[in-house]
Amino acid sequence: MKVVGIVGSPRSNGNTEYLVRNTLDEISKNGIEVELITLCDKKIDYCTGCDYCKKNNKCHIDDDMVLLTSKVKEADGIIMSSPVYFGDMTGLAKSFIDRLRPLRNIHAFKYKVCGALSCGGFRNGGQESTIASIHDFFLIQGAIIVGDDRPTAHYGCTGVGDTKKDTVGYDTSIYLAHRMCDVLKKINNK
Ligand SMILES: Cc1cc2nc3c(=O)[nH]c(=O)nc-3n(C[C@H](O)[C@H](O)[C@H](O)COP(=O)(O)O)c2cc1C
Repeated sequence: MKVVGIVGSPRSNGNTEYLVRNTLDEISKNGIEVELITLCDKKIDYCTGCDYCKKNNKCHIDDDMVLLTSKVKEADGIIMSSPVYFGDMTGLAKSFIDRLRPLRNIHAFKYKVCGALSCGGFRNGGQESTIASIHDFFLIQGAIIVGDDRPTAHYGCTGVGDTKKDTVGYDTSIYLAHRMCDVLKKINNK
């Protein structure tokens, strides 16, 4: 089994990446392979709505999404993350999500276990609305979404400010990791 963690921040080594790394580290301790993917160093054009993917199950744009789409397709679990930009995900994260449209035709998310993670500069800065947007993407792709019933991790992992100092955010990354492993093992009979 493999979980791919996608960092939707335009900044490398930022607050979001730190928490995605925590989550993946905890998942790997449970014997599941992990891979971190940062979007900030990739060439990702935005979807132009040409509908080529509806007939061909692939996008006609030749950029880094060719490789990234295949990595998402092969993964058993996905963690999608973004910092909060004006109450929602970054344009980079949204471009990435939109370009995964070819996977919808083949129901690639049907048995994928998916969780969301968001970081903001402020408490109540829009982490939950950002996570809700990511969840919308997962739902429309037909994925299995997980959160956790432990304190503050209901919707997934949320960070505030400098996440290296955010102990509550750290806890939510661990809780999300545990829930991902729990459901992944259950549905894969491990
Ligand atoms: C354009 C822009 C808009 C932002 N909007 C919000 C916001 O609505 N709420 C919030 O809490 N933080 C907001 N922030 C702050 C970032 O979410 C915060 O600095 C975050 O930790 C950055 O994550 P990163 O280090 O992974 O890039 C905004 C930052 C930028 C650049």
